Amino acid sequence: MSVNHSLLSSVRLDALTLKNRVVMAPMTRECCADGLPDESNRDYYALRAKGGTGLIITEGCSVNADGSFGNSVPRLYGEGVEIAWRPLVNAVQISGAKIFAQLWHVGAFAPSLIGMHDSVDDVVRRLSPSGLAGPEQSFGAVMSPADIERTISDFAAAAAVAHRCGFDGIEIHAAHGYLPDQFFWHVTNLRSDRYGGSLSDRAAFTADIIRACRLATSEGFAISVRISQWKQLDYEAQVATTANELETWLKPMVDAGANIFHASTRKFWQPAFTESDLSFSGWVRKLSGKPTIAVGSVTLGNDFKSAEGKTAASAAPEQLELIDACLNRGDFDLLAIGRALLANPDWVTLVADGRAAELRPFTKNLLDQLV
Ligand SMILES: Cc1cc2nc3c(=O)[nH]c(=O)nc-3n(C[C@H](O)[C@H](O)[C@H](O)COP(=O)(O)O)c2cc1C
Repeated sequence: MSVNHSLLSSVRLDALTLKNRVVMAPMTRECCADGLPDESNRDYYALRAKGGTGLIITEGCSVNADGSFGNSVPRLYGEGVEIAWRPLVNAVQISGAKIFAQLWHVGAFAPSLIGMHDSVDDVVRRLSPSGLAGPEQSFGAVMSPADIERTISDFAAAAAVAHRCGFDGIEIHAAHGYLPDQFFWHVTNLRSDRYGGSLSDRAAFTADIIRACRLATSEGFAISVRISQWKQLDYEAQVATTANELETWLKPMVDAGANIFHASTRKFWQPAFTESDLSFSGWVRKLSGKPTIAVGSVTLGNDFKSAEGKTAASAAPEQLELIDACLNRGDFDLLAIGRALLANPDWVTLVADGRAAELRPFTKNLLDQLV
């Protein structure tokens, strides 16, 4: 039995046409040797494309060495990248999906800060707006104007590589407490030059990256910007405490030419501010006037940063009604799915065939290898 969900309808966003509104959320898998994807990475993404996903956003890809999470994370700079990425991009597109590369610079962050093994800490100079990983938490060096200029160029160079490899677009990872987000957040940005001060000035770094990426690619190349209130080191953080502040935050990025915003939350339906029940993606869509991706706990019972959700989450197919209701009232244009797509590469097929009751739960062993 085939089922009509609004989520499965096609959509045109500027130059980009998607066969449905289901997006694979970017998920770091640390399964690359020397930062280059191989056949197993290709097959992993192609499987989600064959399963009906409309748009794949890759895991975060390093734009340079000082912003890298580690050598097992894919990169978009240095030797051998175009030859390594092209087959993966082709395989996804031949399987019927579009694909964006997520561009990632960790800034004043190291895996060791969240209790993970750190493979690059001792060899790179960690850089950030004010040398802070969190409130009064010194880490790495303060970026000089030359560091800022070089880093923006590195984002643009990575975008150019993605463009040459045939990606349909890029996503700038400006969320979760990494470098662009360290500029947004007043706690980690104490600068007094044009990149610090008001919220609008703190958004200038990401706006400059967007402009540089556009110049390095083409008009029709999609540029998505992922933002979040929460940070890896502070789940309760808020860059914008009101809708007015959110509008101020978004405007420089809209003016710079962002095509899509990806509003990252742990539960896609949760209200962003006390004054209404509109979600973060709903507010971002309303205030930016741009197509928006929502994310967080789609068809799962636990969010990914909760003690339980990191290791297990039950399937919640009953959410499909809520998803359609939120989409139809304009809370988002696209919906990204993380852990449920690890457990169900065929998520779209199951939902379209009326077999959502067969959706499998998320279990931690899915993270141990690319399947
Ligand atoms: C294993 C794993 C790796 C992740 N890596 C990234 C990443 O590279 N970039 C990013 O923006 N978000 C990353 N995230 C966050 C996801 O994109 C997504 O926002 C989060 O998992 C919530 O969606 P879910 O509840 O559907 O899993 C990661 C999440 C998981 C579970």
